[in-house]
Amino acid sequence: DPVATPNVSTCGQADLPPGANVSTCCPPPSNALPVDFAPAASLSSTPLRTRPAAHSVTADYVAKFNAGIAAMKALPASDPRSFAAQAAVHCAYCDGSYSPEGFPGVELQVHNSWLFFPFHRCYLYFFERILGSLVGDPTFAIPFWNWDAPDGMRLPAMYADQSSQLFDPRRDARHAPPKLIDLDYNGTEPRFTDSQQIDHNLRVMYRQMVSLSPTPSLFFGSPYRAGDDPNQGPSPVENIPHGPVHIWCGDPKQPSFEDMGNFYSAGNDPLFYAHHANIDRMWSVWKGLDARRHTDLTDPDWLNASFLFYDETPKLVRIRVRDVLDTGALRYQYQDVPLPWKAARP
Ligand code: C2O
Repeated sequence: DPVATPNVSTCGQADLPPGANVSTCCPPPSNALPVDFAPAASLSSTPLRTRPAAHSVTADYVAKFNAGIAAMKALPASDPRSFAAQAAVHCAYCDGSYSPEGFPGVELQVHNSWLFFPFHRCYLYFFERILGSLVGDPTFAIPFWNWDAPDGMRLPAMYADQSSQLFDPRRDARHAPPKLIDLDYNGTEPRFTDSQQIDHNLRVMYRQMVSLSPTPSLFFGSPYRAGDDPNQGPSPVENIPHGPVHIWCGDPKQPSFEDMGNFYSAGNDPLFYAHHANIDRMWSVWKGLDARRHTDLTDPDWLNASFLFYDETPKLVRIRVRDVLDTGALRYQYQDVPLPWKAARP
């Protein structure tokens, strides 16, 4: 059976790392009956959002994005649209605050399995709708951190600006721009020149997206069904570069590499959503690499798995994996940028 919607009327006891300083590890609880997600009634009359590469946006975009994040941060944590509540969604689904429906006492975990790509797609989707409604622009799209291409391999400038809403002091100060990211960072600073680092990163991308991901079951990660123990096995992309990018961003002076370097705190850094937009983009890119063999999974336990999110109104919505396979139906797409790693066969 599929992993089903947790009961969100209460927040269970999360399993947090030592030293974690967090008031709640859940968005505001609700007893409301969730409504089922309905795709846009008319695709042609619903605006399409185009998510831009974070390093290439205009000053106007940065200003609007800042205004949106500021508006989210200004809402009280009791409002599901607030930045605090949005960040807590990650804590709830990743640190054991919830149990899958029908399995009290079993931890619900959306990482390290085939739920990784679809859960985070849903999460960003509602985050983006909330942001768009707060800035009054239904076409407003979140940026993606284009770390898979040389021009995007630094912390994007708008996140590094200390006066910005997008800045988070709990990051690794050594990795501020112009430092190049290491896509398989393991906590040890690599000793590469910039051109070696770029070359290394492109090979990492090729290895994870092509060599290790030839089939849907390899690309998406291990099955995780109702009642299963969590952490059945991550996909190659969840493993690398997803994990290393988190660790590279987090602050080694904090007890658990907060914010980005730990599940419970990662959503507190606005950078999280740009990192995950690029992870989400990799799902679309992977499908485009080989339209015949790179398909979504067809297992009903994957397609029917469901999650609960608040939308911008804010009401509680149940959304299933099968609802989010086509980004066009969700009315967003990614700016078309080059894929230099496609030629980086080792
Ligand atoms: Cu839900 Cu990048 O982690």
